Amino acid sequence: MDENNLIKMELTVNGEAVSMIVKGGRRLLDFLRDDLHLTGTKEGCGEGECGSCTVHLDGQSVLACLTPMERAIGCSVLTIEGVGSPTNLHPVQAALLDEGGVQCGMCTPGMVMSALDLLERNPDPTIEEIIEGISGNLCRCTGYKKIIYGIQQAAQELQAASPAGTVKESVE
Ligand code: FES
Ligand code: FES
Repeated sequence: MDENNLIKMELTVNGEAVSMIVKGGRRLLDFLRDDLHLTGTKEGCGEGECGSCTVHLDGQSVLACLTPMERAIGCSVLTIEGVGSPTNLHPVQAALLDEGGVQCGMCTPGMVMSALDLLERNPDPTIEEIIEGISGNLCRCTGYKKIIYGIQQAAQELQAASPAGTVKESVE
């Protein structure tokens, strides 16, 4: 780190190699949103309480508002932009829409990232396991039932498409 606090961020984001000199000492959330313009990752509370900033760092869910950007150097980051697109939704995204589990959308990217993490570890979760899996993600709008049913529907679809039980993240 130099006197201007510039650092070299070399990492993989959504399957693409990234190498850029940026101001250090900030949060991974700031790097993603401000430097890479990946604004799908949302800032709700900024204090680790709401889960709206959830991304995957080397395959593990992390809260980007609590993660120093330097922690991601040399790592692979997956954000909601790498999961699906409006014309090619991931089954979890499509199921949340089908079930009415999306209203204002503020919680949705983080909810999807937590659901993906859950389904990778446990492709056939019970309702209780889904509730536990998204327990760090707050939603002010939906009452959770529709989100839970959406994740259950996606799990069933992914299981049917991949009977061996592996749920792969689709990185564009
Ligand atoms: S913005 Fe990160 S947990 Fe709320
Ligand atoms: S849809 Fe609005 S916070 Fe969840």
